[in-house]
Parts: sequence; structure tokens; C-alpha cells
Amino acid sequence: METFKLKVFRYDPTKDSEPYYQTYELPVEKGMTVLAALFKAKEEQDPTISFRYNCRAAICGSCAVRINGHATLACKVQITHLLQKYDTDTITIDPIGNVKPLKDLIYDMDWLIDKLKKVKPWFIPKEPPPPDGKEYRQDPYDHHRIDFASDCILCASCMSDCNALKANKDFLGPMVHSKAYRFIADTRDGEKEGRFEAILEDLNLEWCVRCVECTTRCPKEVQPYENIIRLRIMAAEHGYKTPGEIHAEIFERDIYNRGLLNEMLLPMRQEGILGAIKRAPFGIKMMLKGKVNYADFFGGHKVKRIEEVRKIYEVAKQKEKEVKIRIPQIMGVIYEDKRRTRKRPNYAETGGNE
Ligand code: SF4
Ligand code: SF4
Ligand code: FES
Repeated sequence: METFKLKVFRYDPTKDSEPYYQTYELPVEKGMTVLAALFKAKEEQDPTISFRYNCRAAICGSCAVRINGHATLACKVQITHLLQKYDTDTITIDPIGNVKPLKDLIYDMDWLIDKLKKVKPWFIPKEPPPPDGKEYRQDPYDHHRIDFASDCILCASCMSDCNALKANKDFLGPMVHSKAYRFIADTRDGEKEGRFEAILEDLNLEWCVRCVECTTRCPKEVQPYENIIRLRIMAAEHGYKTPGEIHAEIFERDIYNRGLLNEMLLPMRQEGILGAIKRAPFGIKMMLKGKVNYADFFGGHKVKRIEEVRKIYEVAKQKEKEVKIRIPQIMGVIYEDKRRTRKRPNYAETGGNE
């Protein structure tokens, strides 16, 4: 019988000073998921392995782990696919990333829950219940803007592989931002302001480095990265002057005035004198490496034929008014259209990581 090796992260803080891996040899069975393999190892070889699960049907979000380095749901991914995909006889299972392991694959969830609480992830209606006593109804088009975000099962696969979160534990993270988006974009929501304040506190939306790992990892197509972009646009539309918005305005003015960006004066224009002083050592380093032009410090030069650049700018501005949509929004709409028409991936075939 064909077999494979299941290499499992083990750690019991009551007796282990360091985590280690333990390997179990198991038969390859058709249709066996990673969760089923963990069960087989636990039931037949080692009852001490600890892991979380509940629904076994990709609904509860409890079983997220890292499989060969990538976060996904253990109950959704099949062993045969993984062996083929990685061309190996060993499958390595770790707890999800960016968390504190408590025992084996079980991690501390308190920090996730504390983050979630900040955006109040529950429905707070802006109006009293409908007089007929039925549910708060919504136009199907409005619902379309949030239905995919409502699919989030809080599995934290996106949080696991988020690069911004790795660098800054105060970043709320893609799961939390997606939850905030789901309620802020809900036309029936009465708590937009409080939720916006939570996500904008301490430049929180700005920390995302746009690596798109979260959207790639999400097993439910919630589009966490795109939801962050949507939140940025919505924050600007609601009159919040975010650093991203100020940055974009400076870029726009530079393009109109010079046809070029003035990276040298950007920190001062964006963050004032103190911000510029803070960034001075970095600016000097960039100047010495020839990355920025010191002449920009004195205003810099315009591109030749600036009139042509301005003509393009005017046409783009006109289009912006006509379609009442800004460039990042266009990206979001394209994505949503694609989502409507695209065949959903079969995770049993792809391992959930395609
Ligand atoms: S796109 Fe942003 S939120 Fe998503 S994983 Fe990358 S840094 Fe994190
Ligand atoms: S956004 Fe996707 S990956 Fe993140 S918690 Fe929700 S379902 Fe899981
Ligand atoms: S056990 Fe519920 S999502 Fe896997």
C-alpha cells in the first residue's frame, strides 16, 4: 500500500522547552483530507496530538493550519492532491502563522478576538425594525456589495500569511478589515463612524503592503485585500483624510504641475516638518545612492511638453466625472464582475492554494 509521511508540529509548554516535529507514516487513501489524516494519526498512533476542528465541512473555520508553509483549511484539502502538487511523500503541518501556539496546532485566539471586537463585527441597524415585524430588507444590488464578504468564516488563514501583520502586530489585519468592510458597506448599518474610527486609528489601513497573500489564502473568496482597498476608497468618500488620500492628492498635483513626482519634498508635504526630519536619514541614503534627485529639494524641473501631460490629465479627470468612478474602484468592479462569472475553484483539486 502506498504511504506518505505526515510531519506534525508538536509543542506542549508544560514539558517541552522547544517545539519539534513528529512524523507519522500513513496510508494514502482516496478522498482523505489533511484533517482526516490528523485524525488517523491521533486514533491509531498517537492520542496526544492536539488540533482544532468542528464542522469538517469548511464552514466553521476552526481547522486552519499551515500545510507545507501555506495557511488553509485542513478539512478542505486532500492528501492525494498535495502529494501530487508538491511532488513529495511528506506533508508538513504547522499552526497558522502570526499566532502564539498553545499546544501543537492549537493557538491562542484571544488576540484575534480582541482585534475583531474593535470593529464591532455584528449588525447595528440605523433604523428601528420594519413595522411589519419582518427582517431588515435590502436591495439585491446593495446586498451584492457585501455578500462575498459575509462568507468570511473567521478562519484566520489570511491573518496567518499577512506580511504587514508579521512586521506590526498592531495592524488589525485582513480578517478584521474584511469584517469591518462587510458592515460599513451594508446600507442598513448605523455604526459606520465607530467602525471607520477603529480601522483608521494609528494609520491601520495604511500598513497593508499590498502583497495580496490574504486574498490568495482565503478559502472562501472573501477578497480581504480588495476589501482593504474598498475601505480606503469609502473612507475618502466619507470625508476621512487618510494618509493614502493625501499621498494620492500630492501625486496628482505633481503630475499636473511638473509631469513628475517630487519624492524629495513628499514627506514634508505629507507629514510636515517633523515628518520630514524623521525621514531625513533615509532621504540622505536615497540621495547618496542616486535614487532621488537633490535638485527636487529646490522644486526640481518640469518634463518637456508638460502641456501634453496636462491634456492627458484633463481627459482622465473628465472621464472620472463621467463614469463617477475612480481608478481603484474600477479595479474593484472588474474583480467583482470576474467573481460573478468565474467558475468557483475546486479546492479538492487545487489544494485551496491556487
Ligand atoms: S495584502 Fe495587505 S492585508 Fe493582505 S496579506 Fe498583504 S499586507 Fe496583509
Ligand atoms: S477573510 Fe477568508 S481567510 Fe480571512 S478569516 Fe475570512 S474566510 Fe478566513
Ligand atoms: S473543521 Fe470546520 S472549517 Fe474545517
